[in-house]
Amino acid sequence: KAEIEARTITEDGQVFLQKAAQDGLETVWDRYQAQKPQCGFCELGLSCRNCSMGPCRIDPFGEGPQRGVCGADADIIVARNLGRMIAAGAASHSDHGRDLVEVLRKVGEGHAPGYTIRSEEKLKKVAAEFGIAADGKTPADLAVELAHAMEEEFGTRKKALTFLGRVPEKRRAIWDKLGITPRGIDRETSEMMHRTHMGVDNDWQSLLLHGLRNALSDGWGGSFIATEVSDILFGIPQPVPSEVNLGVLKENQVNIVLHGHNPIVSEMIYEAAQDPELLALASEKGAEGINLAGLCCTGNELLMRRGIPMAGNHLMTELALSTGLVDMMIVDYQCIMPALGEIATCYHTLMISTSDKAKFPHMAHHEFHPETAQSKARELVRMAVENYERRLPAKVLPAPNTPTRMMAGFSVEAILGALGGSPAPLIEAIKSGAVQGAVGVVGCNNPKIRQDFGHVTLTRHLIENDILVVDTGCAAVAHAKAGLKVPEAAALAGPGLQQVCKSLGIPPVLHMGSCVDNVRILDLAAALANALGTDISDLPLAAAAPEWYSEKAVSIACYAVASGIFTVLGTPPPIFGSPKIVKLLTEDIEGLLGASFAVEPDPEKAAARIEQHIRQKRKALGL
Ligand code: SF4
Ligand code: FE2
Repeated sequence: KAEIEARTITEDGQVFLQKAAQDGLETVWDRYQAQKPQCGFCELGLSCRNCSMGPCRIDPFGEGPQRGVCGADADIIVARNLGRMIAAGAASHSDHGRDLVEVLRKVGEGHAPGYTIRSEEKLKKVAAEFGIAADGKTPADLAVELAHAMEEEFGTRKKALTFLGRVPEKRRAIWDKLGITPRGIDRETSEMMHRTHMGVDNDWQSLLLHGLRNALSDGWGGSFIATEVSDILFGIPQPVPSEVNLGVLKENQVNIVLHGHNPIVSEMIYEAAQDPELLALASEKGAEGINLAGLCCTGNELLMRRGIPMAGNHLMTELALSTGLVDMMIVDYQCIMPALGEIATCYHTLMISTSDKAKFPHMAHHEFHPETAQSKARELVRMAVENYERRLPAKVLPAPNTPTRMMAGFSVEAILGALGGSPAPLIEAIKSGAVQGAVGVVGCNNPKIRQDFGHVTLTRHLIENDILVVDTGCAAVAHAKAGLKVPEAAALAGPGLQQVCKSLGIPPVLHMGSCVDNVRILDLAAALANALGTDISDLPLAAAAPEWYSEKAVSIACYAVASGIFTVLGTPPPIFGSPKIVKLLTEDIEGLLGASFAVEPDPEKAAARIEQHIRQKRKALGL
């Protein structure tokens, strides 16, 4: 029992860890245990296998080899490894964005039945930013033109990404001076792979600078496109009530769980699940309905726009299956553990992969393409309904806890809407001190940290101290499970923040979406800075990723810092093999970018660091 409680703070997590053990499943926590002790060289970033003269590793104690076969020292190896992590993360977000651009183009061309333009308002706004005049054009024409312009962003023809138009002047000047203004999205990732090939860039500082540029090509490029095009195609999120935890899986309904990151597949499943014919079939099979539930960011996308409940975050993905209630799990890509398919073989669950670039063991592959997505979605929902009667009663355990209520849907447009259309009231609240500042608490779960403990502990401290929290991704789901995302949670906030939340009817922790939607936080920060005629780094803001695990999170953290936001990481990144790089990223970079990283595994200490940072920023602004 103590071991189970050490793994997660969540009630449903603890119950289903026990159930999983009973059913003989091996979970992510077990596999983590089996890997211990993990390689110390890799933990420090000191191992390299970039070429076939290696693999090489540097002895951190100074006794063994201090150079790889090629002559690379600890600093070069750590910088190259970090650079490749950024490149992988930026590539993931940006490829996700590109897939959406493809759908946008095909909608315009009339080749994507079922998809449509849900926000003409955003289509026109973004088209205008790309210099495309809307006059006299149909939304379809505009969609095609905008898609073509966005396709160009991925290439090399522009000097700087178009969305940099939203970045404060002062920040742009800093990037230009450092030579890190992002050019084409793919160019920066491709160049990172080139630079880190043996015998190319062997200056650790210039490698790190390019790492920042690569991350910026994600934040103000690939991820930005992903979010904006999702809004164009599926609508701009507005505040919406929903619920969270494994209790959202219904015993008497067909449960379809959607997992991954891109809304392209899940939106079509959402449409198909409303189909009267399929609902009638469900009722024929004895089910009271078709219940959709989300996991990870595909879940967040559906939650933000449709109010679909969340079954859980990253570390709940295996445990969701152990309820025995999942009739079908549909995945797209990113953060889908390759273990899931095998776990599902213990139950009746149908596991479906949908992306041409993401296949998994023990999953049936049903590839989605814009042209056929609508009919494919119906086919899958039908299969799920037919699978309902194959549930194995002996293996079913409904969650003992009722779902926790929450509120989501806080896009920048929704937040500004709640404020009456402009950031002025928020700025006033910050000036008056009612709201001391704002922090983005984002990122994943990681079995190295007690599940959700890092997120929830940090966030509780911040709101108690009148700091508004905005969140995305798995952090957002952790906060929701802990009950922090209902307006009543204002009672947990300090007196100033409490007052602001009550007058607006909002929770003290605002759900801004999926991981690519971290750009909504950037966008809001830039809007505040622009309204004040200042730089993002002057504002009392910070970011934290208390339980991060993925390469995407590394890219996000880097674009946050490069955009001027102090960022605290809960799990140490693999850089500690180079004291010079640690010093640069945690101290010296402040002088260049007006922001730095900190690493602090203890969430209470992280809260104290952030509060101190916010006090300093306020003081500098004369507040
Ligand atoms: Fe070793 Fe250098 Fe090759 Fe890396 S690039 S494996 S350090 S020889
Ligand atoms: Fe995510």
